[in-house]
Amino acid sequence: MPVAAFGTFHSDWAQAHIKDATVEAIRLGWRHIDTARAYENEEVVGEAIREAVRKGYIASAGNLFITGKLWNGHMAAKDVAPALDATLKALGVEKIDMYLNHWPWPNVHTPGCAGEHRNPDAVPYIHEQFLETWGEIMKQKKAGKLVDIGTSNHTRATMKLLLRDVSRADRPVVNQMEMHPLFQQTDLRRYFESEGIVCTGYMSLGSPNRPARDTFKEHRADMADPVIQAIARELGVSPARVCINWAVQRERKSGGFVAMATRSDWIRDNLEAARTDLLSPEQLLRISGGGTREHPGIDANNRLIWGQVFLWPEADGDWRVLWNDSQVFETNENYRKFKAAWEAYHAMRQQTTVRVQS
Ligand SMILES: NC(=O)c1ccc[n+]([C@@H]2O[C@H](COP(=O)([O-])OP(=O)(O)OC[C@H]3O[C@@H](n4cnc5c(N)ncnc54)[C@H](OP(=O)(O)O)[C@@H]3O)[C@@H](O)[C@H]2O)c1
Repeated sequence: MPVAAFGTFHSDWAQAHIKDATVEAIRLGWRHIDTARAYENEEVVGEAIREAVRKGYIASAGNLFITGKLWNGHMAAKDVAPALDATLKALGVEKIDMYLNHWPWPNVHTPGCAGEHRNPDAVPYIHEQFLETWGEIMKQKKAGKLVDIGTSNHTRATMKLLLRDVSRADRPVVNQMEMHPLFQQTDLRRYFESEGIVCTGYMSLGSPNRPARDTFKEHRADMADPVIQAIARELGVSPARVCINWAVQRERKSGGFVAMATRSDWIRDNLEAARTDLLSPEQLLRISGGGTREHPGIDANNRLIWGQVFLWPEADGDWRVLWNDSQVFETNENYRKFKAAWEAYHAMRQQTTVRVQS
């Protein structure tokens, strides 16, 4: 799998540029394209691939490594094969090199929705349901439509359950997850790697043009961080280049990254970062930290995708529940019991809490 993946998700304003940006990325040498059904542009990416072939930038689509993703709305067992077939048709390819389950939960939000959007039918991770989805993905792999399979946005608990219950041949080989200098996820990454799962980081530049629903006043910008800026000045390169080189060089170069750009010079620069190691061990240490007072690093737990649009009622509006494994269920029956207890608790509070009239 090529380390550098060209992203095809962007804020809505850039949908019109995805085709040109993808053709340009292929022209400049990117060979790994990161796509998803949820990005609603697989047809456009397919057109870009065909245009790149027509123009002679690649001999055929087979020269590319394509990552695709199963969208949450297609996680019911009966929906997996039709969703994958639609993806293959739209991209114009016979197989997907790396097919990821996009999110651990089957909860959908409408495209371009606002941050306040909530789906009343949303549910937490229910392992029994996930295994059915995974079983269907496996069937598609055995049918030759997928070369390798992986997950995206999995947590430690959800991955532990999956690894416990599938054979070695049926394990995910990749987990794609948010990782950038101010949100490093080092412990989680090391756990996945200890299980032989390669971690690919998305939002490697801190996603400066992300949708409004994923933008909060608490957020900080990776490329504006003083340490990133200082290292950029030392090396005479852009802060973006430092972020991407860090993504490539960190953790003994064990993972990959996804980055998106619409500008040709940035598309070129971001790929160049995967070809040349720029950061010295000392500069890597200043960003990653060494777990000591002298070397704190700059990780600030600055998660950009909170995922609040995926929340289910029992999470009580707290987006951290998506990530902290406090509501992960093995069976439908376990979740049903939990939900009944939660509803009874809330009904009891309604009846018994004293309300003071002002
Ligand atoms: N698995 C998942 O759940 C998941 C979630 C989110 C994203 N992803 C994938 O990861 C990809 C990357 O995420 P992202 O696009 O949100 O974030 P990103 O790659 O961190 O940031 C992309 C933004 O940075 C700007 N940029 C790119 N190169 C630059 C440079 N050299 N200097 C300055 N600015 C630069 C781009 O601007 P311009 O557009 O103006 O060129 C673009 O707006 C997505 O496209 C998608 O494929 C996956």
